[in-house]
Amino acid sequence: MADEEGAAVSVDDLAYDALLEWIADEVAPYVGEGRVADYIPALAQVSPDRFGLALATVDGRLYGVGDYRERFSLQSISKVYSLALVMARDDGRLRGRVGVEPSGNAFNSLIQLEYERGIPRNPFINAGALVVTDLLHTLTGDAAGAVLDFLRSEADDHTVTIDGAVAASEAEHGDLNLALAHFMAAYGNIENPVDVAADHYFRHCSIAMSCAETALATLFLARHGVRADGSRLLPVLGAKRVNALMMTCGAYDAAGEFAFRVGLPAKSGVGGGIVAVVPGRAALCVWSPGLDQHGNSVAGVEALDRFTTATGWSVF
Ligand code: DON
Repeated sequence: MADEEGAAVSVDDLAYDALLEWIADEVAPYVGEGRVADYIPALAQVSPDRFGLALATVDGRLYGVGDYRERFSLQSISKVYSLALVMARDDGRLRGRVGVEPSGNAFNSLIQLEYERGIPRNPFINAGALVVTDLLHTLTGDAAGAVLDFLRSEADDHTVTIDGAVAASEAEHGDLNLALAHFMAAYGNIENPVDVAADHYFRHCSIAMSCAETALATLFLARHGVRADGSRLLPVLGAKRVNALMMTCGAYDAAGEFAFRVGLPAKSGVGGGIVAVVPGRAALCVWSPGLDQHGNSVAGVEALDRFTTATGWSVF
């Protein structure tokens, strides 16, 4: 919490549970605000009045408040793990196929792709994530399975699974993503059959996890690349790069505002989740399904803003 002069008081002095309870009280008025994503009909069935927040520290402790053990659809949060898995295997092959600049456009925008000749601006907009999934599929033979296995292992829960109803709903209403993928294929930037790449993308987006599981599964980025079992997924440089991309591109065309308010590498999803990394310290995940016009959880942004303001745990 900030003292009277606005300086951050060490969070070590605070009970984490009390901090999370305080944040939940603070943001209660925002829960239910915004719109639940309905362009994937299966997501529209989730009640907007849910809120959960979990904090996992690098030493493996876990704290949570509200619906933090309830599973929700990861959606674009899953793009962080597909990117990390590709970078762990073959960083070089992404170069030239996807950029590292914020797009300033909506996450599913088609227009920039034509100007930029089938090379997506960054790996977190849908077009960029489709390229990443395509490459992960080439490298592993099972892109969605690779993401699922990684998440099960990091969350230490083998019941984590792909929600088949959400995946089917995404595929059924996936014309825009298929258009993006076909467009890139025309430029030679999708190497597997478009329907295969898209199917693996829809399926990893449809993995359901709780805030608790997602925070634990993202700790490798707070540990500069080291997994839960102590093995290294990414070199320090690789973890720095994923965190940098989350900072600059993780909230799409609201990334500037998000950095301004929260100041942490983070990734949002239209399921209403946001995962954030405090390098060297912790990973957090917040979930509340009401979204703003950019596709970011309204109460989730409010909660992370409160968290970094109260603790001083921002990268700035
Ligand atoms: O492809 C889609 O549209 C979804 N599977 C993911 C989009 C998403 O989560 C955007 N995030 N805020």
